[in-house]
Amino acid sequence: MSRIHCPVLGSRIMTAGDAALLIRPGDNVGLSGFTGAGYPKLVPTALARRMDAAHQRGDEFKIGLWTGASTAPDADGVLAEAHGISTRLPYSSDPTLRAMINSGEVDYVDEHLSHSAQHMWFGFYGNLDIAVVEVTAVLPDGLLVPSSSVGNNKTWLDRADRVILEVNHWQPRELEGFHDIYHGTALPPDRRPIQLTDPMQRIGEPYLKVDRDKVVAVVETNHPDRNAPFTAPDVTSAAIAGHVVDFLRSEVAAGRMPPSLLPLQSGVGNVANAVLAGIDSSGFTDLVAFTEVIQDGMLDLLDSGTLRAASATSFGLSDLGVKRFMSNIDGYKGRILLRSEEISNHPELVRRLGVIAMNGMIEADIYGNVNSTHIMGSAIMNGIGGSGDFARNAYLNFFLTPSTAKGGAISTIVPMASHVDHTEHDVHIVVTEHGLADLRGLPPRARAERIIGRCAHPAFREKLSDYAARAWAEHPHARHTPHLLGEALSWHQRYLDTGQM
Ligand code: COA
Repeated sequence: MSRIHCPVLGSRIMTAGDAALLIRPGDNVGLSGFTGAGYPKLVPTALARRMDAAHQRGDEFKIGLWTGASTAPDADGVLAEAHGISTRLPYSSDPTLRAMINSGEVDYVDEHLSHSAQHMWFGFYGNLDIAVVEVTAVLPDGLLVPSSSVGNNKTWLDRADRVILEVNHWQPRELEGFHDIYHGTALPPDRRPIQLTDPMQRIGEPYLKVDRDKVVAVVETNHPDRNAPFTAPDVTSAAIAGHVVDFLRSEVAAGRMPPSLLPLQSGVGNVANAVLAGIDSSGFTDLVAFTEVIQDGMLDLLDSGTLRAASATSFGLSDLGVKRFMSNIDGYKGRILLRSEEISNHPELVRRLGVIAMNGMIEADIYGNVNSTHIMGSAIMNGIGGSGDFARNAYLNFFLTPSTAKGGAISTIVPMASHVDHTEHDVHIVVTEHGLADLRGLPPRARAERIIGRCAHPAFREKLSDYAARAWAEHPHARHTPHLLGEALSWHQRYLDTGQM
């Protein structure tokens, strides 16, 4: 049954191959998509074929690729494999693309996700030539029913010169009503407060809008979202979750939080997902989430009733999670709201609502600076994503990691972070399987003692304490955050010694 009820747009239906012909070498292309959800399923593959053909003829064919966040192998992956990406923003986690960024082939602008829409509006990124946006359906008046993610779609549709729509029949038609699209974006000095005071409040409309004259193609698809499955929580991630839950209980007991806590945000990665499992068996009830992604762990919380409702910008469900969601989709309606990422991650809203932010990290240093993005200070892993949007503005933020990486060879607690995404001024709580360091209100020296004593792996504790003591002793006139600069980063040599870089 047709999902394109607008005759004008219905007259522009064509194949993905024909639609891809409308994308030119050198174009900046805005794709929908956030995690493996809601990205266009056919046009990127057709475009990658064109790129391959052009390269075989000896012609250059690369685009600037802009999205909501990461996408999937049949979007980021195929375009990277075709060597068709010159620049990429604002977030990616694709392994092929990661290697190309790290080899210098692709320029990567790793941005706070809440900044990406406004930087587009400010004109910082240049012109958006064409947008390719997946939707669930087109209504008779041309309004668009969004699909399983919103991300930057509103901005791409507003700002792109031309638009290709992919109408995906795989997306459940019942998604209509799951979205709240805020259309009140204004630029300074005309900005007004965003009137959202409760995580589940609606401040917009259920639909995306597009100027019909800009739509140059409509492509019909029937392809699933593709999210990688999460690894089941193990002893380490369960221990991390246990520390977080105990701490939240103690905050409630101390009167610093209500029994139903404050709105939860949970980041990407296996550890963050495992913490949700810990919260699910914690006895907390009537919780609410103001977060970026609804991953499987969040669905568990909704199913068990631990979580009353969740606001996000995207689903990030495994195949099993998708099946579970689809089999009870009406039961989730009204309990899940998807918004643009400029709203889901908005600093003003995160601060006002008092969000509890829980994000993974690569390493923390003894003073509390956190690296979420780089291996050895040089090679990008994924990107900062929304971690800064939430952590910097949260009521309380947690940074979570196992105490060691690469089979125990590397300590994730180091003297000096090799790259800093979240500074010592922003970080509240560091957690590993060994314990939790509450850094709030502590001066640097006490932070170092606490992080080493509670979070470092026992095999590295003595060395870290020795480093801190010698740094203090050798700098009688510079003891605020003393370092032995020559030695501090040599810790990262251990990674080279594992032969994995
Ligand atoms: N040195 C070297 N490698 C390290 C490391 C360190 N200190 N810490 C982690 N790693 C490696 C792991 O070995 C693993 O590598 P592998 O895939 O080759 O096995 C990889 O990084 C992922 O680590 P893992 O322990 O599985 O953690 P995770 O799945 O929880 O992800 C981050 C951790 C930091 C990569 C992830 O949380 C991230 O990308 N964060 C930034 C964006 C973000 O926070 N977004 C949320 C906003 S809503």
